[in-house]
Amino acid sequence: MEYLKIIGGSKLSGKVAISGAKNAALPIIALSIISKNNTEISNLPDVADIKTLIELLRNLGAKVNFKDSHSIDIDTNDINSTKAIYNIVRKMRASILVLGPLLARFGHCEVSLPGGCAIGARPIDLHIQALKKMGATIEVKDGYLVAKAPKNGLNGTTINFDKITVTGTENIVMAAALANGITKIINAAKEPEITALCEVINQSGVKIEGIGTDELTIHGSSGKLLEIDKIDVIPDRIEAGTYLCVGAITNSKITITNCDPNHLDAVIAKLEDMGFSFKIEDDKITILPAKTIKPTKIVTTEYPGFPTDMQAQFMAICCIADGVSIVEERLFENRFMHVSELSRMGADIKLNGHIATITGGKLSSADVMATDLRASSALVMAGLVSEGQTNVRRIYHLDRGYEKLEEKLKNLGANVERLSE
Ligand code: EPZ
Repeated sequence: MEYLKIIGGSKLSGKVAISGAKNAALPIIALSIISKNNTEISNLPDVADIKTLIELLRNLGAKVNFKDSHSIDIDTNDINSTKAIYNIVRKMRASILVLGPLLARFGHCEVSLPGGCAIGARPIDLHIQALKKMGATIEVKDGYLVAKAPKNGLNGTTINFDKITVTGTENIVMAAALANGITKIINAAKEPEITALCEVINQSGVKIEGIGTDELTIHGSSGKLLEIDKIDVIPDRIEAGTYLCVGAITNSKITITNCDPNHLDAVIAKLEDMGFSFKIEDDKITILPAKTIKPTKIVTTEYPGFPTDMQAQFMAICCIADGVSIVEERLFENRFMHVSELSRMGADIKLNGHIATITGGKLSSADVMATDLRASSALVMAGLVSEGQTNVRRIYHLDRGYEKLEEKLKNLGANVERLSE
């Protein structure tokens, strides 16, 4: 089993290039299911979750060719199955993103229920309710969603999401693209990854109004497949935010490149609140050290608010801030798995339901275990700032969403090695 050996305590410096966004690439790969022509995608991150979705598409019969480790070409015209099998779906719950496109193009599909994950039950009731409102019949059988569309396809309607759901919005946007008539989505998620998906669809023959807002109007093509131009995946704002936090926790001056500063307003504002300053250019951000790292209050919410995917990383910084910080997790019911591991490194964190109170102090190295993707990056950060050797285990969680993490950290001067035991 692989683990990361980190010798902490060194200042970092230099530049790190940000990869394409995993959470933008996943819906775009699923979108290829409703494309007439080959879908060419570049700036893909070389991470496990992307490989899992490609494995799923190949299992359905699609042809996926890697032009290089960051570019693929997908031909979905030979899809001969609409059954997304458990053995693949269980590896990544975002596999649910094939539900809308498969149902829209083929009129039927069976998708394994994704199941929960470490951070919560992750229900998909909102996806199901919305598709049913578009005319689908969906039942659960042997752990699979068995979905059928009306014989002449899904119908446009008004969908009012009770809760803001990222993949729920993406699923319905893709289903609505081929539906008969107009679909209006109210209370849509407006993460940059959704805006990117809508822009691709809008340039591929299906008009979408309200892109970037919480109200989307999709003019369905009544079954006519999309004609998609080459797609360049947007930069990963969470990876970018994570490296800004790496600079912050080690109180170093580092520059991140190939990023989009416009996607990081809430993260940058919070780091400024903690005493850091920035030099911001088109696709570069330099973080500058703080005189003292001040405590802060964080409440996670949907975009453009403070992202839940950055909560664990900020908690690690709060562990060494000069005072008491508060972190409130509002999106997921169990996204504090990193707390017990940080506590093993000497962190003073008190939990009361969804609220963590962190009293800053010193962190010390330890053997720790990653539990989920973003929690594992927080443990790596804690290791970077702790004297001595920290071993982070179960780093397959990291490999799901961070490309070449140890290589990028080494290039910043960190003493990190990937070893096997
Ligand atoms: C997406 O997950 C991201 N994943 C997550 O990133 C991210 O944490 C999350 O959005 C929130 O920003 C991808 O984009 C692949 P939601 P998603 O549906 O779509 C509840 C990472 O680290 N809900 O927006 O699954 C749900 O329980 C991952 O890259 C329902 O109740 O999240 C949660 O409380 C982790 N019913 C809230 O809504 C539903 O049908 C937000 O979930 C759907 C969601």
